[in-house]
Amino acid sequence: MSKLTSKVALVTGASKGIGAAIAKALAAEGAAVVVNYASSRAGAEKVVAEIQQAGGQAVAVGGDVSKPADAKGLADAAIQNFGRLDIVVNNSGVFEFGVIEEVSEEKFHWMFNINVLGTLLVTKFAVPHLREGSSIINIGSIVSRITPPGSAIYTGTKGAVDAITGSLARELGPRKIRVNTINPGMVDTEGARSMGVIGSDMEKQMLPQVPLGRTGQPDDIASVAVFLASEDSRWLTGEQLLVGGGLR
Ligand SMILES: NC(=O)c1ccc[n+]([C@@H]2O[C@H](COP(=O)([O-])OP(=O)(O)OC[C@H]3O[C@@H](n4cnc5c(N)ncnc54)[C@H](OP(=O)(O)O)[C@@H]3O)[C@@H](O)[C@H]2O)c1
Repeated sequence: MSKLTSKVALVTGASKGIGAAIAKALAAEGAAVVVNYASSRAGAEKVVAEIQQAGGQAVAVGGDVSKPADAKGLADAAIQNFGRLDIVVNNSGVFEFGVIEEVSEEKFHWMFNINVLGTLLVTKFAVPHLREGSSIINIGSIVSRITPPGSAIYTGTKGAVDAITGSLARELGPRKIRVNTINPGMVDTEGARSMGVIGSDMEKQMLPQVPLGRTGQPDDIASVAVFLASEDSRWLTGEQLLVGGGLR
């Protein structure tokens, strides 16, 4: 039997990149998936179509995770469309690098609102629906471990995600809801390309430090998300899994 048969998942930021790969991987294991997008409706609908063509169930739902009404709408969409919610993947995220002189209120609020407040709001509105055995997966980043220069705001957001995971794991453990973080290394996504990370000096400097010797692909992260969503990881909570080909 598939690992996630009869489960329902909400994946934020699933119109492209890591989120799209996670949505498809969860669906391939039998979960019905709410595929969230912020601006890329066509991308989300393509993900839904691919899931449906493979025999799975999915629905595209727009919403900005940093807006309370939208965040609530995502959890509600899971209940309205599929009748329950078991897996929440807080993947939506934005990133921009820059030295301390480039820090601004605008950049701070842009990254913290989506990466941190969005994670909190989506979780807040999902938790009332989650039953025993549910799994919350936050997508952090390896930057919180390696703290690269020129990334103070983004690294700050991902350090916060790690800390939130630890706190919520303790808070929700008594309700048998697990909370873990995946901390990906560099992954070749639309976002990483548009930010100029892929092919950059930063990538060239980092690659020799990756024991497995390559940049990650979204599917490298998605298979770990399936593990954390499934009963295979039933004894894990509050963990931060570095998923970066051995980079640390
Ligand atoms: N790529 C990497 O190297 C890497 C490494 C470590 C961690 N990560 C983390 O992995 C996650 C995904 O990154 P990615 O590289 O796949 O990024 P991506 O290709 O840029 O995709 C980002 C996704 O987030 C969505 N999003 C942005 N703002 C949103 C908002 N306000 N509300 C809801 N969704 C929003 C986007 O939706 P629309 O397109 O619809 O606007 C898109 O689906 C992020 O949390 C990122 O920090 C990435």
